[in-house]
Formats: sequence, C-alpha cells, structure tokens
Amino acid sequence: MSQKQEMLKEREGFASRIGFIFAAAGSAIGLGNIWRFPWLVGAYGGAAFLAMYLIIVALVGITMFMGEVALGRYAQRSNVGAFKKVNKSFSWLGSIGLIAGFMILSFYSVVGGWVIYYCFRAVIGFNMTDPTLTEQLFVGFISNPLSPLFFHALFMALTIWICYNGVKDGIEKYSNIMMPALFVIILILAVRSLMLPNAIEGIKFYLVPDISKFSAEAALAALGQVFFSLSLGMGSILTYGSYLSKKENIPNVSLIVPLMDTTIAFIAGIVIFPAVFSYGFEPSSGAGLTFVTLPAVFSEMPLGQLFGAAFFFLLFLAALTSAISLLEPLIAYMIEEHGWSREKAALIIGGIIFIVGCFASLSMGPLSGFKIGGLVFFDQLDWVSNNLLLPIGGMLTALFISWIWGTKNVLNEVTNEGILDFGLGKFWANVMLKFIAPALVFIVFLTGLNIF
Ligand code: TRP
Repeated sequence: MSQKQEMLKEREGFASRIGFIFAAAGSAIGLGNIWRFPWLVGAYGGAAFLAMYLIIVALVGITMFMGEVALGRYAQRSNVGAFKKVNKSFSWLGSIGLIAGFMILSFYSVVGGWVIYYCFRAVIGFNMTDPTLTEQLFVGFISNPLSPLFFHALFMALTIWICYNGVKDGIEKYSNIMMPALFVIILILAVRSLMLPNAIEGIKFYLVPDISKFSAEAALAALGQVFFSLSLGMGSILTYGSYLSKKENIPNVSLIVPLMDTTIAFIAGIVIFPAVFSYGFEPSSGAGLTFVTLPAVFSEMPLGQLFGAAFFFLLFLAALTSAISLLEPLIAYMIEEHGWSREKAALIIGGIIFIVGCFASLSMGPLSGFKIGGLVFFDQLDWVSNNLLLPIGGMLTALFISWIWGTKNVLNEVTNEGILDFGLGKFWANVMLKFIAPALVFIVFLTGLNIF
C-alpha cells in the first residue's frame, strides 16, 4: 500500500452524531443568519420575503444539503477528491468550491475581526445614542489601516488553531462547546428584546408582508441567502459529510441542520427588530444594522453593556464556527490530494487567506480608490463568490450528483445501502435533485443577472 493510501485509510471523522450536527449547524449558522438574514427580510418586504425563503429552504436547501452530505460520505473525500472518485473528468467542479471557500473566508475573517473588536468595545460601553456617532466609530475603525488588520489576524489565528487540531479534537470539540453557548445567548437576547417597550412595532416591521417590495431581485436574494446560510455550493457540507459515520442517518441530520439554521436566523430578527424600533431607530440595511444601529440601541438599553457584549460574543461564536468550515475543505484537499500534513496545510493555507484578507480589509480604507468592476476588493470577493460561484457550483453539484453519480447510487448512500427506510427518497432523488433544485437555481440566477 502506498503511503498516500495508508493515510487515507486512517481518515479522521466525527466521534458522534451530535458532534456532526453541532459542527454542521456551526458551519451553517454564521454572520449570514444574524447579520444578513434580518436585514434582507427588512429590505425585501418582511413576511413576503420570509415565506419565499422558507419555500426555497424546503425545496432547494434541504435537497442540496442532503446531496452534499451523501456525496462526501460515499466518497470519503472532500471537494476535489469526491468528484474525482465518482468521475475523473469532474474534479474541476470541486475546484470551483475551493476557490469560492478561499474567497469567502478572505472577507469573512475581516468581518470576524470587526466582531471581536466590537465585543471589547461593547464591554466598555458605546455610550453613543446618536447613530451618526456610532457610524463615525464604525467607519473610523474599518478604514483605519492597522487595527482591523490586528483583529483580522486574531480571528484567522483562532480559525487556524481549531482546524490545526483536527476533526475530532478541533472542529468537533469546539463546536460542541460553542454551539450550545450560542443557543443560550440568542434565546436570552430574544426574550430581553421582546420585553422592551413597543417591541410589537419591530415585530410588525419584521413580519407583516409588504408585497410592493417583492421582486425578482428579492427572489434572487432569498436564493443566494439560502445557499450562503446553509453553507451550500462550495463543499463545506460535503467535507463534513465525509467525516460522518457510515452508520448515521443522512435524511435525518439533513433535516435537523437546515431547521436549526432557519430557526436561528428567524430568532435573530426577533432579537434585532424589536430593540431597534423600541428606541425609535430606523433599521438601516447592510453592515450598518449590526455595527451602527445596534451600538446606538445598546447605548439606550438598561444594562446595554452586558447585552451588547453578549450580542457581539454571540456573533463571534457564530462567525468562528462558520470560518472553520470554510478553511477545512482547503485543508482536507491539501492532505488528500497533495499529501500535506494537517498542520502544514492549516498554517500555510490559513496564512495565505490572511494575506488576501488584509487587502480586503484595506479596501475599506487606504485602498478604497482601487476598484474592480466598480466595486472595492472586499465587495468584489463577496459579489463573485455569492452571486456567481455558489449558485453555479451548487447547480452543477446537484446535476453531478443526480445525473453523473446517479440517483440509484445516491439513494443507496442515503439509505445506508437499503437498511434505512426513506419514504420520500425516490421523489427526492428523481424529482427534486435531478430537476427542481437545479432548474430553480438556474432561473433565479439568470433573472438576478438581468438576462431576462
Ligand atoms: N453559512 C455561514 C453563514 O451563514 C457562512 C458559510 C460557512 C458559508 N461555510 C460556507 C457560506 C460555505 C457559503 C458556503 O454565515
């Protein structure tokens, strides 16, 4: 047996089912849920957007999630290797995912750094009830050439450290601690928010549909958000699936994780909007909601230092467990395909991502005059990965799994070779994965690019 084969034989894996669930939920639940989801709901018509989002999760999200887990577990390889194992000529499809993960982590880690800074800043207390002041604080911080780089380095170092320790002793161990903590904190914050005076105004804004804001653009945003939020289309879930035990029930975990993710996204809105409206602020969109409006809200709230720190710590936990799932596929790829050690892969790949991320960070300040296609580097990484690579990668992955690998083989994997009873299995593979999911992705993708 060659050295490479021997190494693959001792493939790492999760020790328990709950370990997989927490790690996968950790990947899914991230900045996307707590920061991006609530403002998308606000910007695109409240409950109308929410309904659209839920439909896409049910039709495309769960379908794709299960497909990725199945492919990873079957192949016992991550991104490139899994595609290669099924059909040699498709390894490039795995590479799209690796590139997407690389690009996403480069800017995700910069935002992770902002979150760490805001944890500390919240403990000191923002003491700025005027959003123009909190905006100055935010813009001043992110455009500073040095301090965001320091926090980005810290965030990236933590991400590297967890992956460096391996699947069981790194990813699983830390997810098992961080995810329960995250659930407790978000529930406390939601209750707190609902008890504020006039909380109902925020709930109305969040949940009463405004059909006029609904458009094809909103549908694209919902689709992109489903992919981003469930970590689909780039191999994070595929890689975690490859660490799942052959005995586990794939349909079951593929339902639980997207449900957890959607629930947390929904609760994040319950945390944010009542608090914003209770103190008479306007919910700004984008990064501003988290980093500009909320600090002003916490300045008004009794015990705002405590709740502010808890909120940003929550955001930090969510971001870190997602960041490790962006780095891990790249590490697994270097281990499997190039025979690197885990330690070397974590340090070198993590280091390169840190450097690219520095440019993303600087594009918010000193390098803001340098634009590609009208966008600064940070926004360009975000746009290309979310609007191009994830949907294209996701659609091709669904087609690959159902047409190239074949529905018989997928079904065989998700039923643990016929042992598990999965009533909807045939429908899932032959209808959802083969036609509905890829077609929906394609239509919404083209509409969003204004091709129709
Ligand atoms: N899902 C995470 C979030 O909501 C981000 C993330 C982690 C991700 N891994 C991914 C997004 C893979 C796309 C693809 O913040």
